Amino acid sequence: MPRDASPRRYLMCPPHHFAVTYSINPWMNPAKPVDLPLALAQWEDLRDRYTALGHTVSLLDPDPGLPDMVFAANGATVIDGRVLGARFAHQERHGEARAHLDWFRTHGYTDIREPVHINEGEGDFAVTATYLLAGRGFRSSPLSHGEAQEFFGRPVIGLDLVDPLYYHLDTALCVLDDAADEIMYYPDAFSPGSRTVLARLFPDALIAEEPDAAALGLNAVSDGRHVLLPQSAAGLFDSLRDRGFEPLGIDLGELLKGGGSVKCCTQELRV
Ligand code: ARG
Repeated sequence: MPRDASPRRYLMCPPHHFAVTYSINPWMNPAKPVDLPLALAQWEDLRDRYTALGHTVSLLDPDPGLPDMVFAANGATVIDGRVLGARFAHQERHGEARAHLDWFRTHGYTDIREPVHINEGEGDFAVTATYLLAGRGFRSSPLSHGEAQEFFGRPVIGLDLVDPLYYHLDTALCVLDDAADEIMYYPDAFSPGSRTVLARLFPDALIAEEPDAAALGLNAVSDGRHVLLPQSAAGLFDSLRDRGFEPLGIDLGELLKGGGSVKCCTQELRV
């Protein structure tokens, strides 16, 4: 049975100044050149796919001094129109938090919190019907979980990330249906205890295999029906189809050099 899509609002930031000039995750190698026109074309393809699916894409102005700004998912978390700003772990990205806050302030958002604790937005926060799943271990502080629970009034489930390749929650877990509690994830990215928590809360989750996780296949975006994901995560396509989803593969190979893919480039504005 095919699923129902619901229209979404996304915030994206064009990679006009994208570059890998420092390394804050194992994917980033400053010695490997980035093809900027190709990165831009790949990003535009993603944006165009969203609009073709009927979603709304708002744009954040890129800052020449912030080469990772294309990874807009990290800049805030928005649920029910309430905005929890980000506070980045690495100095190289500190300035992005302000750019996001300014955007929300000038776009009609009034319920905005500047966080006390380090959190990298939707990089480490994922929204299901019941929970706010929250990663920790590499970037977001465990203290940010309590801050988010208090601000959003949603039960936060803290999950320990243990493999530096999967340094953000959204590199290892994706919400497939946020009207239900349906997710896909890569168990080996999590501590044994967190794996058990995930298995308890999400017994029917789609479990990803290593090659698909390593292609950043879990760094995907679902509208409830269409799942945009890196095309090289070939092993996930049939499993998604079996569940009634429509997988749509995309090549964001240049952005992968920064350690991000579809989801990293996409912040969801939940009204
Ligand atoms: N280079 C960026 C960093 O390491 C990539 C962020 C990817 N974003 C994400 N949502 N996982 O911070």
